[in-house]
Amino acid sequence: MRPRDLSDHAVYEAGRGIEEVARELGFEPEELVKLSSNENPHGPSPRAVEAVREAAPSVNTYPKSDHTDLIDRLADRHGVDPAQVWLASGGDGALDYLHRALLDPGEGVLVPDPGFAYYPMSARFHHGTVSTYPLDREADFEQTAEGVLDAYDGERVVHVTSPHNPTGSEMPRAAVARLAEGTDEGTLVLVDEAYVEFSDDPGKVDLVREREDVAVLRTFSKVYGLAGLRLGYILTPDTLGEAYPRVNTPFAVNKPALRAGLAALDDEDHVERTVESARWSRAYLHEHLDAPTWPSGGNFVLADVGDGAAVFEAAKRRGVIVRDTTSFGLPDCVRVSTGTREGTRRAVEVLNGVLDERR
Ligand SMILES: Cc1ncc(COP(=O)(O)O)c(C=O)c1O
Repeated sequence: MRPRDLSDHAVYEAGRGIEEVARELGFEPEELVKLSSNENPHGPSPRAVEAVREAAPSVNTYPKSDHTDLIDRLADRHGVDPAQVWLASGGDGALDYLHRALLDPGEGVLVPDPGFAYYPMSARFHHGTVSTYPLDREADFEQTAEGVLDAYDGERVVHVTSPHNPTGSEMPRAAVARLAEGTDEGTLVLVDEAYVEFSDDPGKVDLVREREDVAVLRTFSKVYGLAGLRLGYILTPDTLGEAYPRVNTPFAVNKPALRAGLAALDDEDHVERTVESARWSRAYLHEHLDAPTWPSGGNFVLADVGDGAAVFEAAKRRGVIVRDTTSFGLPDCVRVSTGTREGTRRAVEVLNGVLDERR
């Protein structure tokens, strides 16, 4: 027995888990500062934690009405029809549903380079082909409609990430509209807004309401601190609504996650605190890290440290875990997620010490 030809399929390289690194280095997990996966350093929304506890005794039944409740709530919040809300196990799961619904075998998707690894992976799982458009480092990874359209060749889905992982650059609303205008009628522009809450940009959901060729991805993993529950969604054009029940896994999201999602939406204090702290940390990293950084709209900063793998290793031995961006095609950089004030200061001190020794 062997699988189908998977030679084109890359393995997703996640930032390493805190327990894993602690075990390897002989630290206690609390002694480490983990700023490698753009997680919420303040933990989950406390209201969400309570909702998970309350949901636990009833996980013997399927989460039918919970799905509907969260979908209705999100539809209301974004001013779209419930059928347009494609809830899934993480933004990653929502990408799978979108590709499953849109791609005929051999159809293409266009993705940014550098960019988030799961776009091409998911497209290939669904028998799609992948092409890339470059984000030019010399232009600070600027995202323009023209830059994407130069590479565009009739692909079925064009992926845009704003704020972009791992560079932090953003695509203005007018550019997304121009991009959608410049592509064929059958092409969907998906704007991944996993990090939008950390930006000054209000996001592009209005384009989903106005047009038939723009979709927006959101996640509960970042600002709401629910990465471990796996909850995300894509807002799709109303013409695609019929497709969701035809492609989704029955009861795609688990009950504690659905209840936690509803509770987290109400937890404005937690969101405010998270955003305020991320903005502080981002500014601190820009100002105090002894390495060139790029402006970022996300809860992370990309820094040019000369040798990403070496700096990652040396910082890790001192208890600070950042993301070596070699797998993104940026081997001379690391990406540092925003932390608490204490965690950020410690990360900067350790990274600056490492950089100093390497000079
Ligand atoms: C750009 C981008 N999109 C989507 C995701 C998926 O997030 P999740 O599957 O946790 O919702 C991530 C996660 O890091 C990301 O960086």
